[in-house]
Amino acid sequence: MSRYEQVLNELSQSPATWLVTGVAGFIGSNLLETLLANNQHVVGLDNFATGHQRNLDKVKMAVSAAQWARFTFIKGDVRGLEDCQRACAGVDYVLHQAALGSVPRSLEDPITSNATNITGYLNMLVASRDAGVKRFVYAASSSTYGDHPALPKVEDQIGRPLSPYAVTKYVNELYADVFAKAYGLESIGLRYFNVFGPRQDPHGAYAAVIPKWVDAMIHDQPIYINGDGETSRDFCFVANAVQANLLAATTENMEAVNQVYNVAAGQRTTLNELFALIKEELSCNGIVKEIPSALYREFRKGDVRHSLADISKASIFLGYLPTHSIKQGMRVALKWYLEND
Ligand SMILES: NC(=O)c1ccc[n+]([C@@H]2O[C@H](COP(=O)([O-])OP(=O)(O)OC[C@H]3O[C@@H](n4cnc5c(N)ncnc54)[C@H](O)[C@@H]3O)[C@@H](O)[C@H]2O)c1
Repeated sequence: MSRYEQVLNELSQSPATWLVTGVAGFIGSNLLETLLANNQHVVGLDNFATGHQRNLDKVKMAVSAAQWARFTFIKGDVRGLEDCQRACAGVDYVLHQAALGSVPRSLEDPITSNATNITGYLNMLVASRDAGVKRFVYAASSSTYGDHPALPKVEDQIGRPLSPYAVTKYVNELYADVFAKAYGLESIGLRYFNVFGPRQDPHGAYAAVIPKWVDAMIHDQPIYINGDGETSRDFCFVANAVQANLLAATTENMEAVNQVYNVAAGQRTTLNELFALIKEELSCNGIVKEIPSALYREFRKGDVRHSLADISKASIFLGYLPTHSIKQGMRVALKWYLEND
């Protein structure tokens, strides 16, 4: 039995109360679904800045009525300390996902990204400390590697940030470290690498590459590749990110606590390869017949050129074992996008 299966077994025997911030978003709603499906009590906090009611509605349909009854939603904003305090009351584990994602968004409006990702994060740390939660697990980011050239990325070798977004995610790690030292708050940061899967939003100026391309292919729209297509990423299916959160929240290995971990598949894919993979998967199920070639345009500001995670630290300390490769995850994601179009 894997460590993750063991954790799910233990949780179903003695349910805990979890707070998921950003619960109406992509990763947050996937966390919610897994937690409810395993009979946990969940409080969710979201202001719908980029999340949607429809994500919560989908989770409601996926779980039983009794499981859904264990969910309490608070419409609130992490930028307000009182909302954070209300959400943290009586909670065992915090999974803090609420933030404004996207490098270009942060370049266009650094002040709002800073307010949500740093002030909002600090409010959540203070509220979690004061409520006496057992552990604070938070969404960190691979953008923290910045301009460090090493590949694969190893947790203790970071460069200088390349965007305001990267600054905010690095500051999160610094604050978590200080809260551990100064107040004894247990935390674990998960540096996600390009997470994808069901419910990731394909729309809007700041949509991520996979949902954006899938949506364009389904609707016969042009597809743009920023740069020469040899930019690479470690695309991580969302079930792997969910697994990492549950392992981090529940680990009893004190050496594993107050650390940051890469959360990825440990597999590098270029944008050209990604385009070919989606095209092949969509063509072979016969729904999308003719997909034109991609159009190349300028490199995007603030993007790192290559990204690949060394996932051995999460594997050794947390027992993290990705269940989905990019190809396996892509099949699940594409099925979902086609069914929910
Ligand atoms: N998706 C990825 O590839 C990726 C990679 C690295 C890090 N992350 C981080 O993971 C977390 C979740 O990302 P996601 O992809 O699910 O994005 P998302 O935009 O789908 O989810 C973020 C959620 O936070 C909510 N939110 C934003 N501002 C808020 C505020 N002020 N108060 C309360 N709620 C607020 C949004 O409404 C949304 O529901 C974020 O912290 C993000 O920075 C994501």
